[in-house]
Amino acid sequence: MMVSTKLLFEHAYGKYAIGAYNINNLEQAIGLFRGNLMSKAPFILQISKGARSYTDKRFLEAIIRAADEIWPEAIFAVHLDHGDEVTCMDCIESGFYTSVMIDASAEPFERNVEITKRVAEAAHARGISVEAELGQLGGVEEHVAVSEADAKLTDPEQAKKFVELTGCDSLAVAIGTSHGAYKFQGKQGVRFDVLEKIHENLPGFPLVMHGSSSVPQEEVERINAAGGKLRGARGVDENDFARAAPLGVTKVNIDTDGRLVWTRVHREHFRDHPENIDLRKPGKVFMEEYAKFIAHKNEKLGGAGRLEEVRGYIREHQSG
Ligand code: G3H
Ligand code: 13P
Ligand code: ZN
Repeated sequence: MMVSTKLLFEHAYGKYAIGAYNINNLEQAIGLFRGNLMSKAPFILQISKGARSYTDKRFLEAIIRAADEIWPEAIFAVHLDHGDEVTCMDCIESGFYTSVMIDASAEPFERNVEITKRVAEAAHARGISVEAELGQLGGVEEHVAVSEADAKLTDPEQAKKFVELTGCDSLAVAIGTSHGAYKFQGKQGVRFDVLEKIHENLPGFPLVMHGSSSVPQEEVERINAAGGKLRGARGVDENDFARAAPLGVTKVNIDTDGRLVWTRVHREHFRDHPENIDLRKPGKVFMEEYAKFIAHKNEKLGGAGRLEEVRGYIREHQSG
């Protein structure tokens, strides 16, 4: 059942974080639905601009509609990840997405406010909620390249002002994480000191943690043992999610970890079965392994086992 992002946030706020997982194809979608049902967790399925143009945005919508029919017991929201203004407006008009992210974080503060406010007004008129971003993550985003050295953490004072000025419904915060497989060097980690201050300034307001893959070392080692070349890859400690949720982190974005599972499965498969040319063989293994990964992640995020609780909450609040 596709539900509003807003209701999922209301239920989760302060208690647990909802996993927001990117999909690009059928196998990822199937693994995602299975993993969330296995762990009985609500989830956010997110689609990036790159995913929309990988083939055609209508394929992903069709896959999601089919999954909703096949697994009617699943509870999920559909979100645009890292949208620009044009893509946000397209998603809002399509009537398919339950929330959009406008990422104008590379713009100066005033321009970010201006763009975000326009998107929020258009989205709210259609009952869609809006995630915005303030501060800059390190690493590479879809249309925003920011070097680690220039990474700019979210200013807690500005965050309060930004939310008031824009009317956005949730805020992606830069608290030391970055996109991709190479997040930290040395002893770096999530900046809980900054998160605490943002939360103090925005009590009750949902915060979003991007760049939250944990880059499991076992995956990295298996990929490398099967011919990969990932050196020094490191991610977020997955025990950090339980600390972050009471500080307002309600949505946690995970994409890279899924790519690692895909890479490990396919590299090992073709190493061990060099004669194989049937794409369904590694595809089947990937769907199973991805489902297991998602179920594990939901345990760490605190959403596992909450499906019926969430269903009850939605039944009670949906029409009101
Ligand atoms: O933050 C970016 C997400 O991992 C999506 O990546 O833009 O390559 O689809 P993508
Ligand atoms: P990772 O690269 O850590 O998976 O982050 C994904 C993300 O933030 C998507 O918006
Ligand atoms: Zn992101």
